[in-house]
Amino acid sequence: MTDLRGRLGEAVGAAFASLGMPAEFGRVSASDRPDLADFQCNGAMAAAKAGFGPPRGTAGKIAAALADNPLLSSIDVAGPGFINLRLAGPLLSERAGALVGDEKLGAVQVAAPRTVIVDYGGPNVAKEMHVGHLRASIIGESIKRLFRFLGDAVKGDAHFGDWGFQMGLLIVACADENPDLAELLEQPAWPTAGDAMLARIGLTDLDRLYPLASARAKADLGFRDRARTATAELQAGKPGYRALWAQFARITREALTRDFHALGIDFDLWRGESDVDTLIAPMVGELRDKGLLRADAGAQIIRVAREDDKRALPPLLVVSSEGSAMYGTTDLATIVDRRDSFAFDLCLYVVDQRQADHFETVFRAAILAGYATPGSLEHVGFGTMNGADGKPFKTRAGGLLKLRDLIEMVSERARERLHMAGLGTELDKVEFERTALMVGVAALKFADLINFRGTSYVFDLDRFMSFEGKTGPYLLYQAVRIKSLLRKAADEGLEAGSIRVEAAAERELVLILDS
Ligand code: ARG
Repeated sequence: MTDLRGRLGEAVGAAFASLGMPAEFGRVSASDRPDLADFQCNGAMAAAKAGFGPPRGTAGKIAAALADNPLLSSIDVAGPGFINLRLAGPLLSERAGALVGDEKLGAVQVAAPRTVIVDYGGPNVAKEMHVGHLRASIIGESIKRLFRFLGDAVKGDAHFGDWGFQMGLLIVACADENPDLAELLEQPAWPTAGDAMLARIGLTDLDRLYPLASARAKADLGFRDRARTATAELQAGKPGYRALWAQFARITREALTRDFHALGIDFDLWRGESDVDTLIAPMVGELRDKGLLRADAGAQIIRVAREDDKRALPPLLVVSSEGSAMYGTTDLATIVDRRDSFAFDLCLYVVDQRQADHFETVFRAAILAGYATPGSLEHVGFGTMNGADGKPFKTRAGGLLKLRDLIEMVSERARERLHMAGLGTELDKVEFERTALMVGVAALKFADLINFRGTSYVFDLDRFMSFEGKTGPYLLYQAVRIKSLLRKAADEGLEAGSIRVEAAAERELVLILDS
């Protein structure tokens, strides 16, 4: 219960009690007509239903009983017996002062803190980050912070895509390009002397090799089969492949950590899909023992569809006909891992809406297997960020947008804006760059979070970057102006007094913060 609403409810309850009626009738809620009142009480109607006489009469008596109450500046009876209440101005001022002094700004803390995992971002090795990952990162980071702010124990996990076929593709492509390395990769143990060779492989190599290898695997079946074999050998633990893979994962993770950090996104955990690999075989055994696995055209599946489903849900593919673990298998094993490592109460998956069926399938399988309880797994889907053509945003060259390039793009636009507005001229180069990045990131994040998360929106940097309207830069600009006013006042020896809430917008703000 919030402070103002709670206090008011008690007073109105006491008025009902003084007339011989239950105090619960005094419950108040935010007014449907903020132009007329701050809060309303519908208790007179409830009292009439319970046999206490006509509602308007009751409402009138309550209003009379509260007439001198210092909490209120006005009390009216409307319609069939609504009691409209307006709070006394000094009370709002006092509440505003208390909110400012509270480091949680009045937000009500959870009664029993839970362990919450937020699975978000979901970047992959080699495969480029795209706009789906960007929204997942922005929304996921906010959700993580909100839960933490309210007192839950939260861990944000990037669920790093560091396993699977793309690794085999990269290993083969890298080996083909470096015969010396290829020789070492085949040795029964990884020689330390090989480390220097690994150290030469950088991100630019991955960026260059992956698209080539991925395209070639589609046209050249021999190449594809070699990549498949390499994937299987890597997963079976071949030392050379493991060493090379570790280098791919490390350089990608380092670069991504840096780029995410520039966007104010920091993960607590970077568990990879690879981390649950050893859990998969025992898990499959357990699922078999529980009688959940069905053979289907050479594959092993779990059926999750229910009679009353509105649309047909595919089964969970646990082991493919080629004997490999699939995307869903990894997600199921990750639930087992998170249960064992963190005993989570709630696990949220902040992932593109297009993966809704995938998650529904995995969640149902996890509940059937007893790995999680109903309600403890939740997919937080979202729409796409589109280009002007209404399709998921692509770069001008038609490619997917890389995180690094996006950061550069928004910083560049912010620099232009700042120059145009004649702002930041007093800053040195480093400070100016830092400011441009902050303005750019604010533009991006605000423009994303202002939308209802389920809807798609159009990526329009000019609009996001405007210094007017509902934009991140506008908010930053106002914050800076307010700070500068306060600084000037301080220079003149003025000190801030207590807060006085008078204008309608100010009242509204306090009531929102109090709700
Ligand atoms: N790496 C995945 C992708 O790029 C996203 C991972 C989302 N999280 C999960 N637990 N499946 O699509």
